[in-house]
Amino acid sequence: MFTDLEMKRQEAPSVAQRRVFIRTFGCQMNEYDSRRMLESLRPEYTPVSAPEDADLIILNTCSVREKAEVKVYSLAGRLKHLKRRRPDLIIAVCGCVAQQEGQRLVERMPHIDIVLGPQGIYRLREALAKVRAGEGPVVDTDIRDDFCLPSALSPEVKAVKAFVTIMQGCNNYCSYCVVPYVRGPEISRRPGEILAEIRALVSQGVREVTLLGQNVNSYGKRQPGFPTFAQLLERVAQIDGLWRLRFTTSHPKDLSPELMRAFVEIPILCEHLHLPVQSGSDRILAAMNRGYRREDYLKKVERLRELVPEIALTTDIIVGFPGEREEDFQATLDLLKEVEFDEIFSFKYSDRPFARARSFPDKVPEEVKEERLATVHNLQLEISRRRYRRLVGQEVEVLVEGRGKSDPRQWTGRTRQNTVVNFYGGQDLTGKLVKVLVEEACQHSVRGRLVGTLH
Ligand code: 5AD
Ligand code: SF4
Repeated sequence: MFTDLEMKRQEAPSVAQRRVFIRTFGCQMNEYDSRRMLESLRPEYTPVSAPEDADLIILNTCSVREKAEVKVYSLAGRLKHLKRRRPDLIIAVCGCVAQQEGQRLVERMPHIDIVLGPQGIYRLREALAKVRAGEGPVVDTDIRDDFCLPSALSPEVKAVKAFVTIMQGCNNYCSYCVVPYVRGPEISRRPGEILAEIRALVSQGVREVTLLGQNVNSYGKRQPGFPTFAQLLERVAQIDGLWRLRFTTSHPKDLSPELMRAFVEIPILCEHLHLPVQSGSDRILAAMNRGYRREDYLKKVERLRELVPEIALTTDIIVGFPGEREEDFQATLDLLKEVEFDEIFSFKYSDRPFARARSFPDKVPEEVKEERLATVHNLQLEISRRRYRRLVGQEVEVLVEGRGKSDPRQWTGRTRQNTVVNFYGGQDLTGKLVKVLVEEACQHSVRGRLVGTLH
């Protein structure tokens, strides 16, 4: 006679055959974390593209906006029938919603085996071992102030571009934001670890790396002996075989002259900066606890453009923050017209758990938020189109990422300014640096024709 557990072990696939399905929501940091999870599962698990085929299903979740937890509950709920058919299936909910909900997730959904916060995901193997030993469910939402991301021993990326997290967490406490509560305090990774990981990625053919952090400008500030962020960029730029370097996100209050100069002094640093402004109104910026005024932001943009005239700027905008009046919104529109960003990401304000703005009075009605979002969106479409039109007739340098998504006869890639370029021409150009003559501006991209290969 077998016990239930032994039955499960008997039925479980052999070690070499295990399959994992992962679905990633939210930011680039989550994409990075998902890659690290998959790497930590190798060689035992191979990734598959359908949840029905998997022995382990991972949902890597985001809670930065709206009712993310509602979406996760509904998605996780839909996996219940798979578990009923295959009791040996392991279901893990990871990331920011896992951190936010913790034990509640397994109480409401007993078919979930593992709940891991953003630090806990680096302990996935231990959690799996416990579940297989019948000690589940495992909820690991510990946040430690001295957490160190483990080394990426054998990163595996087949693409031309990769993300590398250089710091975890955030200490800024913008009043609308859940991140400091779910990702914990700001901790920078050791420079040696970062460099080793990038070298390993480059040896596999990665040509472009984006360094990730909630506020990269404050890299190393709290850790004695660490380089500044600009110094780290210089070290990364020395890596042989790396052609392009980017970073995100930069907080406007900490954007230093040293970092601005890095765009001039480091040849592989691409001319693109994502600098989230959130609002153009000083009253709202103060309520958001952003630590800068509209004028400070505009001055930094002006200085940056003096130093690097070709720099592309992108930003994030929140409309309908509590107490946002018509004149505050107008100030945001004016700022968008004044700066002329290349692209923006705009969001309707939503209450988040733990965030202070949740208890602020004067919430803006949903219809007003909708209307303001549409206004911002339409204004920016016009501005972006104008900026893209300026590229028509120019030759641009494109790092080719692969075949086009909408038309597989086309190739797609990005300029150093991060503009998407689709073009016809040539044999397999993936991973190559090419010259494209821009012939047409589209809504969020440009189209052109191949005129030469650089690398
Ligand atoms: N409501 C709306 N947008 C938000 N963001 C962060 N928190 C909220 C919220 N509560 C937006 C900000 C941030 C981006 C990642 O998400 O614009 O820069
Ligand atoms: Fe959130 Fe502000 Fe930190 Fe960005 S800087 S993650 S918006 S608290």
